[in-house]
Amino acid sequence: MRNILVTGGAGFIGSNLTLELQARYPEARIVVVDDFRSGDFKNLRGFRGDVVAGDVSRLDWAEQFGDRVFDGIFHLASITDTTVHDQFLQVHDNVEGFRRLLAFAEPNQTPVVYASSAATYGMAGGKQVEDQAPAPANVYAFSKVQLDNLAREQAARNPAWRMVGLRYFNVYGPREVHKKAAASMIYQLYLQMKAGKRPRVFRAGEHCRDFVYVKDVVALTIRAATAPRSGVFNCGSGVAISFNEVIAALNGCLGTALEAEYMDNPFAHFYQSFTQADMGRARAELDFTPAWTPALGIADYVRSLEAQS
Ligand SMILES: NC(=O)c1ccc[n+]([C@@H]2O[C@H](COP(=O)([O-])OP(=O)(O)OC[C@H]3O[C@@H](n4cnc5c(N)ncnc54)[C@H](O)[C@@H]3O)[C@@H](O)[C@H]2O)c1
Repeated sequence: MRNILVTGGAGFIGSNLTLELQARYPEARIVVVDDFRSGDFKNLRGFRGDVVAGDVSRLDWAEQFGDRVFDGIFHLASITDTTVHDQFLQVHDNVEGFRRLLAFAEPNQTPVVYASSAATYGMAGGKQVEDQAPAPANVYAFSKVQLDNLAREQAARNPAWRMVGLRYFNVYGPREVHKKAAASMIYQLYLQMKAGKRPRVFRAGEHCRDFVYVKDVVALTIRAATAPRSGVFNCGSGVAISFNEVIAALNGCLGTALEAEYMDNPFAHFYQSFTQADMGRARAELDFTPAWTPALGIADYVRSLEAQS
């Protein structure tokens, strides 16, 4: 890949992706588009490419990039705080940004990899499989379902054009500090425990999540750019672990014995109690198997956090 565009490249996953692309393709020209509403320039320290400060849902793509042809577009820009309930804002900024990007990519049929979300599965229990019906429980998830719908419709009209959506599960890892309250629970619990406090989780700590390490997320996102067909793919670790198990892993890494403090869940009406990605499709069609189990990923992440503190 010689010409690459990354939207949302100042964010958590986007910056990890951008810096990995730069390392893998040192000759490539990489452009990041980000409006910094939740991202942070500090995530892009060491980036040698071009940064366009722009809102993807308002940008005039043709004016900005002219007839420049990209070999691949990675679209991660999105409102990512799921507690933003302004329905117009979430749907406008997330969906119109993607619509404009697709209109720009269509003439050259530039391969597009975009961030969908496990949130599209809603409250459904059990292993989440790509073909199950979407059941968005909040407007953020609803906006991601619209991305999947738009891509599916475009793919049906343009069978040769590849558009791949990745349903990221709960991503954790370096460069998420700027997300503050929206950062992963693994980071939140680490911070509390590092400060010597008992880690606070919703009663009784048995909600399960598929926590996926950002290094696996980046690897699958790059792999998806050469997918043989359009479609959506889960992007998780394939393993569900409870918050109690996360706390146990963090205690092990930090050498502490802090017990969980349980609290009532104020978001019970739209809170997923169990998420686990079925990674069968990614394995079969993209030849991808996650390299980081939760235990290995948490240990690697804590090592990097401790090295900075
Ligand atoms: N982190 C997760 O666990 C997770 C899970 C599921 C899906 N996702 C998706 O992955 C993508 C990246 O998420 P993240 O965790 O890195 O979050 P993030 O908030 O760190 O990154 C999002 C980036 O997009 C930028 N942005 C937002 N709206 C924009 C707009 N209209 N125009 C230009 N830039 C804009 C922000 O400034 C930020 O840099 C998002 O699409 C998110 O919905 C993330």
